[in-house]
Amino acid sequence: MDGTRAWCRSLECFILVLLLFNRAVWRNTATSNQWSWKLLLNNTGVVAMHMAVTHENNVLIFDQTGAGPSQYRLHRCNTHRRSGYDSSCYAHSVEYDVLKNKIRALHLATDTGCSSGSFISNGSLLQTGGNRLGSRKVRYYSPCTNNQCDWQEAEKELTVRRWYASSLYLPRENAVIIVGGRLAFSYELVPGPSKHYDLPLLHSTYERNSKGNNLYPFVHLSTDGHLFIFANRNSILLDYRRHIVLKTFPTIPGNGGRSYPSSGSSVILPLDHNDNFTKVEVMVCGGAAHGAYRAAQDDRYLPALSSCGRMVITGRNHSWRMENMPGPRLMSDMITLPTGDILIINGAKQGCAGWNSATLPAFEPYLYRPDNPTGHRFQVLKSTKIARLYHSSAVLLPDGRILVAGGNPNKRYMSSGVDHPTELRLQALVPDYMSNRYGHHRPQNVTIIYPERETGVMNGNTFGVSFVLRSALNNISIVAYAPPFTTHSLSMNQRLVRLECRIFETVSKNLFEATVVAPTSIYVAPPGFYMLTVVHDGIPSRSAWLRIM
Ligand SMILES: *[C@@H]1O[C@H](CO)[C@@H](O)[C@H](O)[C@H]1NC(C)=O
Ligand SMILES: *[C@@H]1O[C@H](CO)[C@@H](O)[C@H](O)[C@H]1NC(C)=O
Ligand SMILES: *[C@@H]1O[C@H](CO)[C@@H](O)[C@H](O)[C@H]1NC(C)=O
Ligand SMILES: *[C@@H]1O[C@H](CO)[C@@H](O)[C@H](O)[C@H]1NC(C)=O
Ligand SMILES: *[C@@H]1O[C@H](CO)[C@@H](O)[C@H](O)[C@H]1NC(C)=O
Ligand SMILES: *[C@@H]1O[C@H](CO)[C@@H](O)[C@H](O)[C@H]1NC(C)=O
Repeated sequence: MDGTRAWCRSLECFILVLLLFNRAVWRNTATSNQWSWKLLLNNTGVVAMHMAVTHENNVLIFDQTGAGPSQYRLHRCNTHRRSGYDSSCYAHSVEYDVLKNKIRALHLATDTGCSSGSFISNGSLLQTGGNRLGSRKVRYYSPCTNNQCDWQEAEKELTVRRWYASSLYLPRENAVIIVGGRLAFSYELVPGPSKHYDLPLLHSTYERNSKGNNLYPFVHLSTDGHLFIFANRNSILLDYRRHIVLKTFPTIPGNGGRSYPSSGSSVILPLDHNDNFTKVEVMVCGGAAHGAYRAAQDDRYLPALSSCGRMVITGRNHSWRMENMPGPRLMSDMITLPTGDILIINGAKQGCAGWNSATLPAFEPYLYRPDNPTGHRFQVLKSTKIARLYHSSAVLLPDGRILVAGGNPNKRYMSSGVDHPTELRLQALVPDYMSNRYGHHRPQNVTIIYPERETGVMNGNTFGVSFVLRSALNNISIVAYAPPFTTHSLSMNQRLVRLECRIFETVSKNLFEATVVAPTSIYVAPPGFYMLTVVHDGIPSRSAWLRIM
């Protein structure tokens, strides 16, 4: 194949290559047993209530400042206490260096408890709200490689307190929208006019006796530029620029809530160039039984919801298609893997979110394969022994592992004497696809080649991706993953985009180069940093950071 140049319009060419070389289709027939757990650190010092992976391969981890002393004591104390709860001799935020497996302390000025965040186009994290004096704050974090970066608080504040609100990046405005929060039935843009807009969905879904049951609403950017917003059991498509509800979707079936403190989770399934990104399908999984919050106050823990619903939000025909997970589950994280499968991890089987309100940790992650026939989509993966309850989180790393951390249903850091002590161990779930057995199929040395003198690619333009492959080239897909901001079972801004590959060439033996198209629409792939992964026969490479400008 050396020196040959194949022109392709889409992925079909690779199947043709396959037929030409008459090789058996190799399939990933691996079983769940191949997934493994690895303990990375015994003590992160700080509860991973919130996590986000930066394009400098560090993971931001932070908690609330109101839980008293953490287990990370600072050498130098800041003596001016800004609130009675702030124990400023302890870190409440750390940065985890993925390559070195080390943490360093960061410094928060106000309480970030139950806050929200989004990466903006330059790779900085715009983080908003929290508790007490932090509830109207706007903070920035610009990732660095020299260990010098730290949190910066902006002078301008949110228009109202936003505690348990959701955040989503808006590419057209290069701003974020903050939706909801405790007793905040509105949304606002940051940066933006100092104004907020009433959101009737948040009034109509509010359950006074269940701590709202509509907090941390699920917000997704549809590829038509409008916002899908789901709270409790109901959802709308919002034109946030004109402040008009364009669609009211059917109520999701099942007798229970899906939003905090019922705390189900939600993703948009992978977006695909094959339909020009016109199909957007939302998935919602798990949640708490009706009345679970009240029952938990009396130490009765109701079984969580087992159901998931899928609904296409584009087009004209909307209905929830329901299916059941292998078990009941709430407070789980849903993570889109480079293979396009969805990982459901962490959480509990009974109760609801909040302080000491859940029992029976869900130790076994589930893998969900969206394209399999119904009834053959879920797989139960290897269980861990570490409970990950309220205030835990999980994120996908560029190397393909899933970082799992946190958990603290107690109001303070408690290492003993309680049912579920504060969990500070840091783990990685190592997927089956990372096994050496698949080394031969795995693309390596993935390198992004931008147009000359550029440091990124514009929407609609092409860029090169070179990679090394030791086996015959078969079924390739190239995907871009937007790293989310994760907290309270939500991965804000998470999306996986399957990119179009136009030209493919063999540069030399085992070295290939693909010409890949950055999606035309900013609503498909908003400007920012993405994990770019080459997937060959279901085996992903390590990711390289792609910048769309
Ligand atoms: C964690 O602590 C245990 C018990 O002290 C020890 O055996 C183990 O090596 C430690 N692991 C790491 C990753 O530090
Ligand atoms: C990114 O943009 C934000 C907001 O304008 C700014 O505060 C930050 O310094 C920028 N970061 C870099 C690395 O330019
Ligand atoms: C709408 O979707 C439902 C459920 O998927 C299907 O049964 C029905 O035929 C669809 N109707 C139209 C007009 O496409
Ligand atoms: C791939 O990367 C490895 C390690 O960086 C390097 O040793 C090797 O030469 C590279 N292979 C090619 C074909 O570029
Ligand atoms: C190629 O890979 C894609 C994505 O992983 C998958 O949907 C498709 O079925 C595969 N095609 C073949 C022929 O294996
Ligand atoms: C695909 O979508 C883009 C952006 O929405 C649009 O500009 C383009 O015309 C579409 N292409 C086709 C073939 O429909």
